[in-house]
Parts: sequence; structure tokens; C-alpha cells
Amino acid sequence: MLFKAGLCSVISLCNIGLHSSAFGHTCNAVRSTLSKCTSANLFSWPCFKPLKDYDSRSIMVSSVTSNPKTDSTSQNSRKKDHWSSNGCQKYSTAVDPGYRGENMEFSEGRSVLLPSGHRMPLVGLGTWQAKDEEVEAAVSEALSAGYRHFDTAFNYGNEYAIGRVFKRWINDKDHLRSDLFVTTKLPVFGNRPGDVEKYLTESLRRLQLDFVDLYLIHMPFALMPNKNGDNFEANEDGSPVLDPSLDHQKLWKALEAQVDAGRAKSIGVSNFNARQVANISAIARHPISCIQVELHAVNQQKDLRRDCAKCCPNIAFTAYSPLGSPAAPQHFQNKYGYSIKQTSAGLLSNPLVVEIASTYKKSPAQILLRHHVQQGIIVIPKSVSPARIQQNHEVFDFCLSEDDMKKLNNLDQGEEGRTFNFLFFKGVENHPEYPFGKN
Ligand code: A2P
Repeated sequence: MLFKAGLCSVISLCNIGLHSSAFGHTCNAVRSTLSKCTSANLFSWPCFKPLKDYDSRSIMVSSVTSNPKTDSTSQNSRKKDHWSSNGCQKYSTAVDPGYRGENMEFSEGRSVLLPSGHRMPLVGLGTWQAKDEEVEAAVSEALSAGYRHFDTAFNYGNEYAIGRVFKRWINDKDHLRSDLFVTTKLPVFGNRPGDVEKYLTESLRRLQLDFVDLYLIHMPFALMPNKNGDNFEANEDGSPVLDPSLDHQKLWKALEAQVDAGRAKSIGVSNFNARQVANISAIARHPISCIQVELHAVNQQKDLRRDCAKCCPNIAFTAYSPLGSPAAPQHFQNKYGYSIKQTSAGLLSNPLVVEIASTYKKSPAQILLRHHVQQGIIVIPKSVSPARIQQNHEVFDFCLSEDDMKKLNNLDQGEEGRTFNFLFFKGVENHPEYPFGKN
């Protein structure tokens, strides 16, 4: 009891700013301990419950983490001072009014609380387009740089290589599986209730894991699988055979069964529109924890964020292609012979982004990523370059001013900024659940 009271006094002193003195080491040690606590277990000391500790070495916000489900008072106080200790304004003032924010919970500026009750790190490594040899090195590099969140998909074809790294990492006695946050996705040709378990089990086998932290329905439309089930069935002209029988609510129930079975901690969707999200949320027994969509400075998904907040106030947004996916045109040309129009192509050299970057002595990529994480949007920049992997994770030691946030908000071109419309799947716009251009 005395020990607990002592720790509370120490953390209070830390919180009022004494951490810049020699007292800092004590503060860091105490914070590192307390970062493993929730309000629920803090008061039944000891609270060393294994819990996701996303790189507490460089946590800057000093408030003790609480469990908002059980502690509404601390929820309010955390909202008030969330960003204050690293000089940031309250996050809600930096977000365009009208969507999310209000009910969002951050943890120490580095993760968000999902509706499922689990936490998800704000920065993860994207792995789309990363080949086996590259991705193995990239994931190792990212782990060394402090990443604990990794995003992959059955369809990326790189789960085996990523799994090899996880296996090695978890086998190290200093590491815990519970420190990782791994997302993978149900392939578009697996969008049938009876196929969900098969594809998730296969992904787990490849990733050498017993469960994933987040399982997403990759696409809202469905394609028929080929005989091997490893790709879509193609018509003679190469176009995919559509599966119009898709029922999102039934599919969601099959995902919920995977949570019940312990194969997924949280579940969500990707590339869905707001109507589709609301339709699932109407019957969801396990909440839609996350929606992953294309999201970057020229396509900020403001309408989708506002509309999803109506049915699902705490749904987390993950931004794929947060740097504008500069390599996407080449990829689609090589793989599908398809030319894409890309408004976001020059995002990394956008004059405003470059100017803001020079003011903060950061790279344009860090400015683009910070603009999102400062609003509580999760980012999964893809990189296979060690220097960029490291750089993309270093977005928690500075804060964009209100004014710069607004300037970056104004880069948005809405739908005009979209790169990924999936029309490279010839004829997909005829699927009843094709998500774009419909409400
Ligand atoms: P590379 O893998 O060679 O680093 P997005 O996540 O928006 O799809 O962007 C990924 C693309 O951006 C990849 O081509 C990646 O190339 C490149 N990239 C990733 N991080 C950076 C960075 N910090 N600066 C410049 N380009 C980057």
C-alpha cells in the first residue's frame, strides 16, 4: 500500500514537469512500470499483468493509462490533457469538426483503444508489395526500430516470410507474443461465411501464430475462387468471376466465430463504404474495431470518417498508403497492365509538405504521418529501406501546430484524391457491393 502511494506521488511529480531534472530517471522507471497498468488493475497492486507495452522507452505523455470502460472520470481527464506534455494542443481542436475524436481514446500518444477493448499502435509497418526477401529484412529492421504493429494480408503473398521473423523474435526469451500487434486479411476470393475459418487458419499457419490481433475483410465485394483457392477464378478475358451472393452480415458472423474461437482478438473491414459499415454494425455482436482504407493528405476520407462515427463512434481508422503510394502505378502496370490516375503521386514533394518539413527539421514523410497520428489515425507506411523504416516510426517527438494541421487538412481533394478504386479487377463495378460511387 505504502509502495503504491509512493509510486503515485512520484508519478504526480513527474507529471508536473520535474522530469527534466535528475529526477527524470526515476520518472522513466516508474512510468515504464506503470505503463503496464490499467486503472482496473493499478489499484489491485501488483499490476504486472502482461499487456501490450508499445515501446515504453520513448513514451512522452506522462499520464497513467486507464481503462476507459471502467473509469469514466479518468477518461475525461485524459481527454483534457492528452497531448499537453509534448507541447501539443488538445487533439480534438486539430481535427476537422464533425467526425470522430470525441469518443476516441489514445494511450500515451502511441496507440488507440479499439472498441474490442484491445489497443492498437498508431504506427505499423505496411507490407503490401514487399517481396519475401525484402520483407523478412524489413520486419526485422522494424522490430529493432521499435515497431510492434505489422500489417499484412493473405493476398500479399508474404505471410510466410513475415512469420519466419515473428517465430525468431517470439522465441527470444525477452519477447512476448502479446507485445506484437499483427493484422491480416480475408482475401476477396474468400468472402463466404464457410471459407473464413479456412483462410484465417492458413494465414495463422503461414504467420506461425496462434491468433491475429486484427482480422479484416479485405474487400467489400466478392470474387469466386479458382480451383486451388489461392486466387480468383478468371473469365477467358482475364476478368474475375464475380460472386454476387455475398451477404456482409452473414460474413461478419463468421468473423465473430473466429473471435469466439480465439483466432482473432479484434475484427474489422477494409475498403468498405459507410453504408456497408452501418449495415454490419446493426447486427454486430463483436464490434467493428477498425476500418482500413486509402487515406492520405489528398484523400483524407473526411466524409467516411464523419459517417462511420454515426454508427460506430469508436471505430479506429487505419490509413493505408499514407505517403500517397508512390510505387502503386508501376505495380498495377506490371501486375494487371492497368494504368491508374494518381492525384497523390507527388505528395512527398508537395511544396507545402516540404516547407512544413523544413520548419520542423523533419522529412516530408514524417510530416504526412504526423498529420494523421495527431488525429488518432493509425498509419501503416510501407518501406523496405532501413533508414525509411526507422524514420517513419519517429513521429512522436514533435507536434504540428494547429495552423500547420489546418494547412495540411486543406490539401484534401476528397474523392478526386482516390487512387484505389479496384477497377483493375475488370467489371468489379458491377458487383452489388462495389463500394464507390454509391452511398
Ligand atoms: P521503399 O519501400 O523503397 O522505402 P505508402 O505506404 O504510401 O504506400 O508508400 C510506400 C512507398 O513509399 C514505397 O514505395 C516506399 O519505398 C516509399 N517510402 C516509404 N517511406 C518513405 C520515406 N520516409 N520517404 C520516401 N519514400 C518512402
